[in-house]
Amino acid sequence: MGLARSARIAVAAAVTLGLCTPAVNADVRYEPGAPGLGDPYFPDLGNGGYDVDHYHLKTAYDPATDQLIGETTIRATATQNLSRFNLDLYKMNVRSVQVNGHRVPFARTGERELEITPRRGLRNRSRFTVVVRYDGIPETLGGPIGFDLPYGFLHTGDGATIVSEPNAASTWFPANDHPRDKAFFTIETTVPQGLQVIGNGRLVKRWRAGGKDTFVWREDHPMATYLATGSIGRFNISTTITGKGIPQLDAVDPGVASDRGSVSTPAWTAQATDELANYFGPYPFTTTGSIIENNNVPPLNVPNALETQTRPTYETPPVEKGVVHEISHQWFGNSVSIGRWSDTWLNEGYAVWTEKYWAEKHGGQSAQEAFQQIYADPPPMPPGRPGFWDLAIAAPSRDQMFHRSIYLRGGMTLQALRHRIGDEQFLRLTRTWLAEHQYGDATTEDYEALAERISGQDLREFFRVWLHSPGKPTWDR
Ligand code: ARG
Ligand code: ZN
Repeated sequence: MGLARSARIAVAAAVTLGLCTPAVNADVRYEPGAPGLGDPYFPDLGNGGYDVDHYHLKTAYDPATDQLIGETTIRATATQNLSRFNLDLYKMNVRSVQVNGHRVPFARTGERELEITPRRGLRNRSRFTVVVRYDGIPETLGGPIGFDLPYGFLHTGDGATIVSEPNAASTWFPANDHPRDKAFFTIETTVPQGLQVIGNGRLVKRWRAGGKDTFVWREDHPMATYLATGSIGRFNISTTITGKGIPQLDAVDPGVASDRGSVSTPAWTAQATDELANYFGPYPFTTTGSIIENNNVPPLNVPNALETQTRPTYETPPVEKGVVHEISHQWFGNSVSIGRWSDTWLNEGYAVWTEKYWAEKHGGQSAQEAFQQIYADPPPMPPGRPGFWDLAIAAPSRDQMFHRSIYLRGGMTLQALRHRIGDEQFLRLTRTWLAEHQYGDATTEDYEALAERISGQDLREFFRVWLHSPGKPTWDR
């Protein structure tokens, strides 16, 4: 989804009014869309030449076999004259592809490319529809970027749960798999009768037929692919509305129903959804809530959770600051997304800073004290990881994109900036950042430029030291 929406409407209106006729030009040149978006850490994620408007993910999943059968319908707009274009899809068997209602040839290239050749070239700015039918067992990914735990479409005791950040959305549906192309989503999932599906946004329909239950969820704000979910299993569901009137749905795995976190999470979620709006500006989405799983993951020094849009996924019941962290991401990461995967400090730094700000506002330690403590005595890093002060957090390398220092030094950088430019300026910067990039994406450079604009200060040296250089910065009290 790009800024082209109103421009497209204007063009369509002009055509209807006969103000201009689309050129019939035999010499129009069509070229293939690029197989990547140019992300420094994931050159094959995302694709060039088009912009997705809407995903309709139709899947049927059987926990007994782990088999997923999918039909994805993508409505997109060409951003160049396209002779062919790519979608990202990791493994899985592709059975057929249609473009604008016609079956078309396709090829699998690279590790996760589905190369599609429409019958005729697609004109720049034209809208087109792609339908991909596929099936298989979604493969989970792993390694340091997923805290050395499997991530993606994860089999659970009674179904599946989905944690796709950063690159696993395309393990379960064909996508333009990059936060620079956000879109609306309809998530329609069929499961064996008696199981439930919890997706993003609102449940718009459900029905039972032939021993199966189908759930249709809709997210009506732009969403990055990695934030899409449809957790499958047995859940205790509660619905309410927050004090400020945001509809809320919480789904708790019955295996953890008596746990303290699962009891308190809905209340913390309501409170954070409403209260963070006082600090940052209106909650950006139309629903809130949580998905609380009971996955047996080994103890971690980072809570394993993902800020799935409108309804964070907690792999195990969270503590209060875990909820504040994931709800904070609804502003930082979900409404304003990062334009490159090297910018994770912007998401995680703000989410951690929000945790400390929350404690400060609730009569605990001030954020300044909390970060000064981490500054004086950072936690030890797990073996094989760079040390706490060894990263330039705005260029951490792909394997370290979720290093502890992305979180903690990220939050500390924001607190040091708050300390330097003052509370009022820092909150104004934060709110302006969220307002100017709402539902879009932005980079570290955009943040630095805005910080200088709002504060009227030359902050180049500050950002060079805190974001772009390894080593422990000096921090004057
Ligand atoms: N953004 C998540 C959080 O801090 C971290 C997700 C890391 N990725 C993963 N595959 N586990 O809440
Ligand atoms: Zn986070």
